[in-house]
Amino acid sequence: MTKKSYYVTTPIYYVNDKPHIGHAYTTILADVLASYHRLLGTPTWFLTGTDEHGQKVQQAADKNGLTPQQQCDQTVVRFQELWKRLEITNDDFIRTTEERHKVIVQEVLQDLYDRDEIYRAEYEGWYCVGCERFFAEKDLVDGNCPECGRKVDAIVETNYFFRMSKYQEWLIDYIETHPEFIQPDFRANETLGFLKTKKLQDLCISRPKSRLAWGIELPFDKEFVTYVWFDALLNYISAIGYKRDDAKFNQWWPATHQLIGKDILTTHTVYWPTMLKAMNVPLPKTVFAHGWWLTGRTKMSKSLGNVVNPMEMVDRYGVDAFRYFLIAEMTLGQDASFTEEAFIRRYNSDLANDLGNLMSRTVNMLGRYCDGTFPALGSGALDGAPEQELWTAVQQAVVEMESSIGTMHLNGGLAAVLAAVRKVNQYFEIKQPWTQAKEGKTEAVGVTLALAAESLRVCAALLYPVMPEKMSALRAAFGLGKPELSQLRTFGVIKAGTVIGNPGILFPR
Ligand code: MSP
Repeated sequence: MTKKSYYVTTPIYYVNDKPHIGHAYTTILADVLASYHRLLGTPTWFLTGTDEHGQKVQQAADKNGLTPQQQCDQTVVRFQELWKRLEITNDDFIRTTEERHKVIVQEVLQDLYDRDEIYRAEYEGWYCVGCERFFAEKDLVDGNCPECGRKVDAIVETNYFFRMSKYQEWLIDYIETHPEFIQPDFRANETLGFLKTKKLQDLCISRPKSRLAWGIELPFDKEFVTYVWFDALLNYISAIGYKRDDAKFNQWWPATHQLIGKDILTTHTVYWPTMLKAMNVPLPKTVFAHGWWLTGRTKMSKSLGNVVNPMEMVDRYGVDAFRYFLIAEMTLGQDASFTEEAFIRRYNSDLANDLGNLMSRTVNMLGRYCDGTFPALGSGALDGAPEQELWTAVQQAVVEMESSIGTMHLNGGLAAVLAAVRKVNQYFEIKQPWTQAKEGKTEAVGVTLALAAESLRVCAALLYPVMPEKMSALRAAFGLGKPELSQLRTFGVIKAGTVIGNPGILFPR
């Protein structure tokens, strides 16, 4: 039986620097998915948080003249403030320096050590500080890190290892028999390609304190701290009560969607599933890897100085427009390009012209021709051919939006809603309520404007998870609160006699 609950996670973000658009994107995507599932009536849990241990954070602290904990405490606020500003509705926020997380990491380590899933050995190899990962000589590309291309350091030291290699065949088989586990498909092939051509190594899960002290101490050896990825991945279960609150844990786990960027595919589709297997915990239903946001055609990077600051975009164009652009512009799985020109183009065409303008016209005409109240409708309001056609288009948008959530084609769903919005504009051109009014056809004007308002109501409900603030304002103008599932397919929800409010210009040009 498939479980009727929805648990979505984002990666937990490093607190070595302030958040940028990549972080904002994954979090907004998770928020939109969570919000759609709430709208569909599915019990939903949405987790995000911060990854606070490890070398990156330690180095940032050193550079800033702070203790690592101070570095974390100062930076975490920037994430939390941004999420508030972006209207993120996460149910929990986990920091890996919290006690509730640290004790679980230590219990997991002790259990795996007791069952000989973790052992002590001498390690000789290469280490990339940026990726916080070890590589064998043969895996280096031109002597550099195979993941990020930066220089690697030679290292010889005693460490603790997780017996990851013994799960190689099991993992290949699992991925092949669970096509929904790694999405999109081509990412599953990427992981499989790697698993089938390379011998999986055991995973070094410790760092000697002499080299790095900022981490969770190994419960069985006080000279070591835990490797940051082994610590961080466990956040997804420590936060929902693993080993502490069985009812809560069983309600949400296995997670439905674990969202990640494509750069952290290996950690989430090799390390994470083998860790869970060793712990006897079921795997998440889907790890979904999205692509990169590029500036024009180049990768965003601090050294190139082309990183988009989400706060600045929001200050200039508003939260909802920013959220809308990110979701509408990226085909999930592919890379997408962020340019201010593309942003403005989409803002003007979809939001200012099509949607905003339609709302202004509808509200103005309801004011002028219906005394600013919602007209009473006879039972035949939907009988006319143009009315039928419009309502069918709106219902089609409901169907497409709903299915786009299942298939993770959110941009397609949004396009269907915008198509319905344009239909309403066309409907006005066909019916010409201003002419109807001039000819004294009061009842006909009422039907035309009511149809438009009802269509807008449904479109606003479908857009609400993406643009919560503006769509709330739009719905409030018709006397409506938060959207409800039961109202998406019903005609005639706005009450006759409702005094039409003035939402102002939703999307100024
Ligand atoms: N701390 C780890 C994740 C641990 S999860 C158990 C980490 N943190 S991160 O802060 O470096 O990155 C977090 C996410 O941001 C990654 O999924 C990464 O793909 C994403 N992005 C960073 N830059 C990005 C873009 N330019 N575009 C889209 N997302 C990118 O990795």
